[in-house]
Amino acid sequence: MLCRNRLVQSRFRTHVGAKPWASLASLKHRTLTTSRGYVTQAPAQTEVEKILLDTIKATGPISYATYMQLCLSHPTEGYYMNPSNPVFGKQGDFITSPEISQVFGELIAIWLIIHYTSTAPGRKIRLIELGPGRGTLMQDVLRVFSRITATQEQVTEVMLVETSPAMRALQEEKLEGSGFKLTWFNSIDEIPRDEDQFTMIVAHEFFDALPFHLLEKTHSGWREVLITSASDPAAPTILKASGSSLTSTDPPFATPSKKSRFRPVLAPNATFSATTLGASSPRFASIPVGGRLEVSPTSFKVAKSIGELLRHDPDDESTPSLGCGLFVDYGGDKAYGNSFRGFRKHKIVDVFNRPGKCDLTVNVDFAFLKEAFSNNVITFGPITQYNFLTGMGLNQRLWALQRSALSEDRKSAIQSSAKRLIDLTGMGIQYSFLGFSGLWGKSDSSNQVGYPRWSLLRLTTIRPL
Ligand SMILES: C[S@@+](CC[C@H](N)C(=O)[O-])C[C@H]1O[C@@H](n2cnc3c(N)ncnc32)[C@H](O)[C@@H]1O
Repeated sequence: MLCRNRLVQSRFRTHVGAKPWASLASLKHRTLTTSRGYVTQAPAQTEVEKILLDTIKATGPISYATYMQLCLSHPTEGYYMNPSNPVFGKQGDFITSPEISQVFGELIAIWLIIHYTSTAPGRKIRLIELGPGRGTLMQDVLRVFSRITATQEQVTEVMLVETSPAMRALQEEKLEGSGFKLTWFNSIDEIPRDEDQFTMIVAHEFFDALPFHLLEKTHSGWREVLITSASDPAAPTILKASGSSLTSTDPPFATPSKKSRFRPVLAPNATFSATTLGASSPRFASIPVGGRLEVSPTSFKVAKSIGELLRHDPDDESTPSLGCGLFVDYGGDKAYGNSFRGFRKHKIVDVFNRPGKCDLTVNVDFAFLKEAFSNNVITFGPITQYNFLTGMGLNQRLWALQRSALSEDRKSAIQSSAKRLIDLTGMGIQYSFLGFSGLWGKSDSSNQVGYPRWSLLRLTTIRPL
């Protein structure tokens, strides 16, 4: 089970001293008088907060999916869309594995190359990344591809699925010098199937940013948990403050602020959407009454489309594998019910804090993604980040990098950033890797087939980069 305290520690490592709400002190405040006459301060509304409150006023409570979509992806004010949001790095709200160490992307590249050379050597390659952020992972992958004989002449195109113009600009800046043809797409559905090429797909911290619905199982079936304004008198059904997830018994990641302008409410009636989503996996039937479920039909749809891109023709065994890929994200091989959280300045914050100005994330149910593949590909894992990186030769790669480092400081920086990626009280267990391949045969989640051991990789030794 995910340990939240540990999660917090790992996200605190780049903490630059601010308390979760400290940054709000400098914001414009307005005064609120409570029913008891106390005067409290609430931060000025963000643009997204205004839009959300207006929407609720006009049409009633909204789903968590709508809330997340507007907060992260409103065309101009969404967290990832507005270029004024710092997002990544020490000055931003969080830091991701590719940004911590180049070894992360290099070992992903090696995994892709091994699958390619063992299933479809010599074929042309197209590389797809979903949600590439600053483009660092793709930059590291391409560097390895251009130094390995088997792949250096094979990549025809790099396809980036990214909805944010601000992120696209960062990706272009980072990758334009790579010499590869770059093309951007809004959705994986815009990318056609191509049987003449081997398609490689990576997604790191992509699915955790996709909208999800929150459901609660009641005696009369699944009901959707919705969001209304804190002052909405027409929505009296207030949920238990601590939540009651039986898919996860952990406490909520952050206590909702009393100053929040939003609160969750249970939909008064069963809806077609809640009933359908609650039945979208046979696993959900065992969640008892009172349990909650975070379910992302958007993630399901993306995984389904990827399965269709790589699907082999069962009647034509001579067709080579059409591709392979890796999903890396927070989460595990199970459903979650209480993992939705916000990040601001490297701290976990209430999800209703500063909408549009904080990152939002929800754990990924990898078993659901595997169900979406519906046997179109075979899958490996998920396994933990620790197991993937060490199994793929992290230590050997570090040794090579350290040997070529020009100073002791550089050597210890290489060592400490890699240690951070595999920390067994943090990132090493919080992130999971799911491999998939358009091979025939049975899925095998053992390390040996899906995640070849270092001993199998010696032939693909790469020089220090
Ligand atoms: C948490 S960031 C991860 C960035 C990068 N993969 C990394 O690990 O550093 C999520 C990325 O997904 C993008 N994104 C979010 N929702 C998306 C969607 N529906 N379609 C495509 N990209 C999306 C964001 O703009 C951002 O680039």
